[in-house]
Amino acid sequence: MITLAHLSDTHVGGPPDARSRAERLVDHLLAMEPRPDALLVSGDIADHGRPEEYDEAVAVLDRWPGPRLVLTGNHDVRAPFRAAIEPFRSGTQPFASGTGSFGSGTESFASGTEPIASGTQSIGSGTESFGSGTESFASGTQSFGSGTESFGSGTESFASGTESFGSGIEPFASGAESFAAATEPFPSGTEPFSAGTDRFQNGTIPPVVGAVELDGLRLVGLDSLVDAVDGVRQDHGELDDDQLAWLDASLAEDDRPTFVCLHHPPVDIGLELMAPILLREPERLEDVLRRHPHVVATLVGHAHTAGATTFAGRPLLVGGGSASTVTLDAEPLGRIWQDAPPTLALHLLHDDGRLTTHWRAL
Ligand SMILES: [Fe+2]
Repeated sequence: MITLAHLSDTHVGGPPDARSRAERLVDHLLAMEPRPDALLVSGDIADHGRPEEYDEAVAVLDRWPGPRLVLTGNHDVRAPFRAAIEPFRSGTQPFASGTGSFGSGTESFASGTEPIASGTQSIGSGTESFGSGTESFASGTQSFGSGTESFGSGTESFASGTESFGSGIEPFASGAESFAAATEPFPSGTEPFSAGTDRFQNGTIPPVVGAVELDGLRLVGLDSLVDAVDGVRQDHGELDDDQLAWLDASLAEDDRPTFVCLHHPPVDIGLELMAPILLREPERLEDVLRRHPHVVATLVGHAHTAGATTFAGRPLLVGGGSASTVTLDAEPLGRIWQDAPPTLALHLLHDDGRLTTHWRAL
């Protein structure tokens, strides 16, 4: 059996207790023995997308030492997200379920030193900087994931305007290279954000897509975040042709059981607050998933509720809400129930292929 922990919508920088609520969820996962095999955080990591919010979020999420997939949500902004977050971390050693390699939860790995996956990776913000127009977005030495993936080729300069942002920087995970062809060269002289604006333009930063490889399970992460328009956050989700083509190719290349993960639910789930801001044109995603029967379920965030429905003939599961809970209008709780405890999901993939999900309010 494989256990995937799933939390969502930490919104660090939003509600005053957003960080402590996320800490509570991570504390719970770290106290499990054995721990889950991997962690999914399905978007809305930061509330305003500010770099300092991501720094706080990283301090919480990096306490999780194992494989993980961290997605963007509508509240996120790609440039500072990518500068701060390590979104795709594959591997089964030494974190494999039942090995006890990480003990009872007392270990804490500082960013940049953890021996997850191949044991050779160097992770962290110490080699990346971002913001003034002269920094290198991708460090020249970073490698993370299974040990064969390169986050940055080592030669791209994010702001130089002379090199393609796409080639070389996209392969977060094997198979992601095909997506790079669709990316635009980063235009000369443009910055993805500037001081004094709350809602930075995402500009031409490529979507954060990739896969996390586990022993017997694959997590494929999509990026349904829509760029801000004139500094105004867009709350609905979209997946363009290039991203869907990448998904199709990624699913075709590996037939192990797979969770497809994105922030926005692609179907109505009965929450009035969410109905106008779901994933648009969900039938295009459904068409892809129906071609790949090894997709076990679609895992989403955004809805801030412990909920389940179906999509493309399979389960669609919401990872709860870390920062708050969204309710049905019919419930006497207010649309955003701030006093509800933070929730997470534990998805159990049984050896016979069945999926069981447990939600916890902590
Ligand atoms: Fe959210």
